[in-house]
Amino acid sequence: MLCRLVAQDPARVPFPDRIPAYLERTERALGQALPDPALAPQRLHAAMRYAVLGGGKRLRPLLVYATGEALGVAVERLDAPAVAIELMHAFSLIHDDLPAMDDDDLRRGRPATHRAFDEATAILAADALQPLAFEVLAAAPVMADEPDVQLRLVTLLAAACGPNGIAGGQALDLASEHRRLDQAEVEHMYRLKTGRLLRASVLGAAHCLPGVTLGRLHRLETFADALGIAYQIRDDILEFTAPDHAGSSDVIKEKATYPALFGLQPADRRTDELLGRALASLDDLGAQADGLRWMARYTMQRSQ
Ligand code: IPE
Ligand code: IPE
Ligand code: MG
Ligand code: MG
Repeated sequence: MLCRLVAQDPARVPFPDRIPAYLERTERALGQALPDPALAPQRLHAAMRYAVLGGGKRLRPLLVYATGEALGVAVERLDAPAVAIELMHAFSLIHDDLPAMDDDDLRRGRPATHRAFDEATAILAADALQPLAFEVLAAAPVMADEPDVQLRLVTLLAAACGPNGIAGGQALDLASEHRRLDQAEVEHMYRLKTGRLLRASVLGAAHCLPGVTLGRLHRLETFADALGIAYQIRDDILEFTAPDHAGSSDVIKEKATYPALFGLQPADRRTDELLGRALASLDDLGAQADGLRWMARYTMQRSQ
């Protein structure tokens, strides 16, 4: 019992030591939220489980839990937003890999969902994951008596995947193939296609704190916005410097990516600037926000 208490005290144990427990929690909750593979239609259920389970850094759930730590939110309240956002993320990756989009055969080092199954099944699995994410939020037992909180979470997630979120950002991404965007245009595209879901992770966790102030939400929004743009720049740097870069969809489709347009060093410098902005927005939070600080550094410096 003492071990459990100490392990959950953000001020005393470094965040990386708590990550395995958060990942275990996330995997368990995801497994429970997904449909039973033994039930019909089995192929659809198998594709949904394939796309969600067995891989992925679970960055968005970790952001939910780290934000919860920063504000002192009870961990049980964070499971539904963590799961819902990861389901939405999985939906977006299935679509992103389809032949009509990036046409990538591999995801997380194994066949993309449309390759492991078929295109129609992959589309249907994505179709089913998106509403499942909303169902998880709307049906969360821990918030059953707080419809205002549930409504805020649903609204945040809807905004994150609509025309001013993933769908809009992906449309800009497709429209920018073979084109030279300026820095503001690239960052706007990154903000929508990647940043908005990270914003929903951070603000979703914050909305789980009864009475969270507008000032706090505003500073966390600044944090999440910087993180979202930097995360996508880092993702593009990793692809740009990978040994198989020449054959990547970024090159084949002449994607407008930060390192391809402006060079590697400016891309690195920009992630450093964004890291500074993200960390500064947490200045008024003490050691309990070290998880968020760790996540920000990880995001900018990760190597996979
Ligand atoms: C990949 O996201 C797509 C982007 C938005 C950059 P992640 O890097 O979080 O992918 P997984 O979930 O860990 O595979
Ligand atoms: C992914 O962007 C963004 C979304 C899925 C919304 P990318 O196309 O750059 O990401 P990867 O490289 O396929 O993971
Ligand atoms: Mg893409
Ligand atoms: Mg892609």
